[in-house]
Amino acid sequence: MHSKEIREKYLNFFKEKGHTIISSASLIPENDPTALFISAGMQPLVPFLLGEKHPGGKKLADVQICIRTDDIDEVGDETHHTFFEMLGNWSLGDYFKEKAIEFSFEFLTKKEWLGLEKEKLAISIFKGDEDALKDEESKKVWLSLGISETRIKELPKKNNWWGPAGETGPCGPDTEMFYWASKEATPKEFNPDDKRWVEIWNDVFMQYLKNKDGKYEPLAQKNVDTGMGLERTLAIINGFDDNYKTDVFWPIIQKIEELSGKKYEENKKEFRIIADHTKAAVFLLSENIKPSNKDRGYVLRRLIRRAVVYAHLIGLKVGTLKTDFVLDFIAQVVKDIYKDVYNVLDKNKNMIMAEIYKEEVQFRNTLENGLKQFEKTSKAISITLTENIGWARGKSQIPQKREEKKFLNGKIVFDLYQTYGFPIEMTKEIAKEKGIDIDENGFNEEFKKHQELSRTASAGMFKGGLADSGEQTTKLHTAAHLMLAALRQVLGDRVFQKGSNITAERLRFDFSHPQKMTSEEIKKVEEIVNQKIKENLPVICEEMTLNEAKEKGAMGVFESKYGEKVKVYSIGDFSKEICGGPHAKNTQELGSFKIIKEEASSAGVRRIKAVIEQ
Ligand code: ALA
Repeated sequence: MHSKEIREKYLNFFKEKGHTIISSASLIPENDPTALFISAGMQPLVPFLLGEKHPGGKKLADVQICIRTDDIDEVGDETHHTFFEMLGNWSLGDYFKEKAIEFSFEFLTKKEWLGLEKEKLAISIFKGDEDALKDEESKKVWLSLGISETRIKELPKKNNWWGPAGETGPCGPDTEMFYWASKEATPKEFNPDDKRWVEIWNDVFMQYLKNKDGKYEPLAQKNVDTGMGLERTLAIINGFDDNYKTDVFWPIIQKIEELSGKKYEENKKEFRIIADHTKAAVFLLSENIKPSNKDRGYVLRRLIRRAVVYAHLIGLKVGTLKTDFVLDFIAQVVKDIYKDVYNVLDKNKNMIMAEIYKEEVQFRNTLENGLKQFEKTSKAISITLTENIGWARGKSQIPQKREEKKFLNGKIVFDLYQTYGFPIEMTKEIAKEKGIDIDENGFNEEFKKHQELSRTASAGMFKGGLADSGEQTTKLHTAAHLMLAALRQVLGDRVFQKGSNITAERLRFDFSHPQKMTSEEIKKVEEIVNQKIKENLPVICEEMTLNEAKEKGAMGVFESKYGEKVKVYSIGDFSKEICGGPHAKNTQELGSFKIIKEEASSAGVRRIKAVIEQ
């Protein structure tokens, strides 16, 4: 069965059952500042689930495009996607559990609709807790439809409760439908932890409202909200154990095979990530979201960059490509798959391809720099190690025989991940090619440490800190770091910061230097700073002890009580400074940097005033 057919069947079925067909809402939520994207069909319908009258009446159905970014790291298996289509039907205070389940069952099993085998179905229902009773009614309906007791599991809220989509809102128990997707014999018992049971449809019974105090109040209007994953269902109907073999993915996979000369079967994870991320990026761009370092634009940027990294991993490297850059070729295929269903893709195709191309070109530069950094670091590490090994063996003060094994420690692997966006798989792959071992456990430890730090940092955000500082001041703080590094590059290593004062309007910066700067020197500093801004360098904050900061070569005023942690801000590999922040996340946010004055401050100290213009 083709995707076109399943969409049509679904909508026709519910039309026959008296539902009004509505069109998919935009991926960007309207009037909902708490959500970045639409991630379920019910989201655009929240006002109507709360009682407002829908112009289409009380029974609705649609195919909603969705983006889910919470499990981006799971993308790469058979069934998880960032972008997907959700088939859904709603009752706004009309039918409830019995009818909803009967509809689902009929659509899934009747020959003229999907014709799936009843014997391969399994069901989960809500087992009940202190907030709500066990969902006996749903269980009774399933039994009456001929589903055996051994195929019905009662599960807690974690599994069988849906919503609210935000902190508060409509929610309730749900019943989920699973299908045995394997070629092996269907087991008698349903085990929800066995991945071969694939969840395909969810009927939610929205009868509660979660309020601000976290309590569940009964809703005046009892609703049904259902969601069926189109890609998963399509795979199952066609007997595939892999969603990427369906018509909404396969042409993309074939294109990647053609461009790379590699086989999907041997590189599944990489192919899937490239296909999934490019697809999601195309849809985000079609809604006029542009890559940036904030919110939706940041998600888009991350998707494109991850796709480029994985493309690199399977050999789609600059210099070896049949084309210069690849993502726009893949994006064309995405557009062709969906253009008849979502015509905005065709309408915006030139802009979509141009933006994807631009972002890939830009990121390939960062990637190249990261690779150079890799080379540099692995050489340095190899030398240190050979010497240390000689010592450690205690045979002689001077090593007799040099140990050739190269090794990258976890911190360096993490730096590559953090600063240059190298996923561990990529570092591993490149390291393997060069005969270098990497410390994966060390990387995982660093990763965990960093996660904890950023959690603490974001918790702190609401208690002042970042929230207290204006956008402009923040940008100027970051510009000051770039400027210090640029001054040292132009005037030499004897330049140190002697003080600074930053307001929303300008940056004032004092530094050690014996004479007036020439206009060439000023121009050069401006050029370097603006160049670094253009390079879209990430600004990374890490907490460490003062000693660690010194060891890492961080600049700054080394005044800290013993053991106290300091924050070190790195801008790409261009600047590393101890500083309290706050800072921009990426140099790209800064705008254009300009020195407006250079004068004497005191003996041996110069003062610069600088601004940034948008
Ligand atoms: N809102 C329900 C879901 O997304 C149907 O699973």
